[in-house]
Parts: sequence; structure tokens; C-alpha cells
Amino acid sequence: MINTPFNYTGSKYKLLEQIIPNFDYTKNTFVDLFAGGGSVYTNIVDKYDTVYINDIIENLIRIHKELIDSDDIIEKVKKTVVSKDDKNGFLKLRESYNQNPKPYKLWALMLCSTNNMMRFNRKFKYNQTFGKRTYNPSTEKKIIEFVNHIRKYKSKLIFSSKHFTNIISSNSMVYIDPPYSNTEAGYNAYWNKNDDLILYDYIKKIDKNNSFMVSGVSEHGGKTSRLIDMLISDNYNFKILKSNYQGVSRNKSKKQGNELIIMNY
Ligand SMILES: C[S@@+](CC[C@H](N)C(=O)[O-])C[C@H]1O[C@@H](n2cnc3c(N)ncnc32)[C@H](O)[C@@H]1O
Repeated sequence: MINTPFNYTGSKYKLLEQIIPNFDYTKNTFVDLFAGGGSVYTNIVDKYDTVYINDIIENLIRIHKELIDSDDIIEKVKKTVVSKDDKNGFLKLRESYNQNPKPYKLWALMLCSTNNMMRFNRKFKYNQTFGKRTYNPSTEKKIIEFVNHIRKYKSKLIFSSKHFTNIISSNSMVYIDPPYSNTEAGYNAYWNKNDDLILYDYIKKIDKNNSFMVSGVSEHGGKTSRLIDMLISDNYNFKILKSNYQGVSRNKSKKQGNELIIMNY
């Protein structure tokens, strides 16, 4: 499996060996509806003719796209990151991003942020704290591995940054990995209270003309996910995965939920 160079909260990288064999490979088109750090599309790209990559965070999608197009963004990021002890530099960069957001600034911020995690407030301003970290040889290694792999498939990748309801698909394998409303993540600012229900309706709509797989956690810290509960009571197939979900809950002592996948095929 190829990792992507983002260390993304909620990345499915560690679960890929359990997820990937379960996609429907009779379809020609794959849709990664909530692409995030991109670990899923990166590892199925050789199996489909066309791969749609969507995430609501526009500058995140632009990072993927620019990185696949050329090395320019890598050079800009290297010049933009601050050193491990430069908290003031980090705060200036954060301010600069919030005034004038650009993909390379977002990636530089992530590289210098606490646990590499992006985080936005409800006004979509970047508010993650300084992580005393920066671009390092391991980042470089991951970037090289990722671009050497993914650039071969550039012509079949189609990027978008839309709300999921605006992605219309038919006869596709649609992979749905939404923010888990029963866990905490820095991009949950983009996930509204009703989005679980809106996503449920969306899934019901695409059910007729597509294969879908939804990822979720059944229970996390005592909270259940409405979306997952509803899909399971609709009798779709599901599999519980061996879980190694980490790094999102603030309270590590709380019981971790069961990661599962739900499929209409
Ligand atoms: C659990 S993460 C996906 C992780 C991804 N599968 C990976 O392996 O890195 C969920 C993603 O949904 C995105 N998102 C949140 N609200 C959205 C919306 N309304 N439409 C599309 N994407 C959205 C977030 O930005 C986040 O990147």
C-alpha cells in the first residue's frame, strides 16, 4: 500500500488491507466522495478507468491536484514551512493563510501543526496550534513515493471540491468516508448537525444506480452514529473491521468504536 504525504486525521491507510478487497470491481468508475488525505483513491487507481476525487475543502483538493501536476508546490512548501522552534513564524503563517488562503500555505501549516492535523473553526479559519514540527526527511520520502506512483495515473483523475450532494454519479463504485459525527476531527467544522441525515438520503438516491461502500464507527465513546444505525437497520451488508482507529478522540480512556463498512452489493 502507498501512503500519502499528509498524515491525515481519519485516514483509512491502516485499514486499507481490509477495505480494498471489498470494493465492487465490475464498475469502471470509482468515486472517492470524501477523499481527505487520499489514501483510498491512491491505492485503487490502477483498478478503474476513471477516478473522481472530491472533498469539500477546496485547498486540500488543490494540494492533491498541484502535487500530481508538478513539483512546484513542493518547492513552495519547503520555502514556506517554519523551523521547529519558530512559534511566531507559525502564527504569522496561519494569519497569512487566513487572510489569503493558498494550497501551499495550507500544506505548510499542516506540516508544522500539532500532530500534522489541520483544524478549522466554525468560520472556516485555520486554528490549529503549533506542533514544533516541520518538513523533514520522512515527509520528503513519503512525497517521492506518492508522486512516483500517482503521476502515472494523472489522466484518469478528476478532482472536485463540492458538497457531497452535488456529486452525481451513475454506474460507479462510490466510496463514502464522511466525518464521523460521533468523533472529533479538525474538519468537523464542515460537517453540520443535519449532514448525517442528508447523507442518508443521498445514499438512498445513489443506491439504485451505483454500488456504494460507507465507512463508519458503530459506537465511539458511548455515542452511536445515526447514519450507521439507519443503514444497518435497512439490512445492507456490513463487515466489522479489526480496528486500529487512533488519534481523534481527545479522551483516550473512552471506549473506541467498531470500524465497519456497509455495502449495497
Ligand atoms: C474521514 S475524512 C476522509 C478520510 C479519507 N478517506 C482518507 O483516507 O484520508 C472525511 C472528509 O470529509 C470531508 N468533508 C466534510 N464535509 C464534507 C461535505 N459536506 N462534502 C464533501 N466532503 C466533506 C472532510 O474535509 C474530510 O476530509
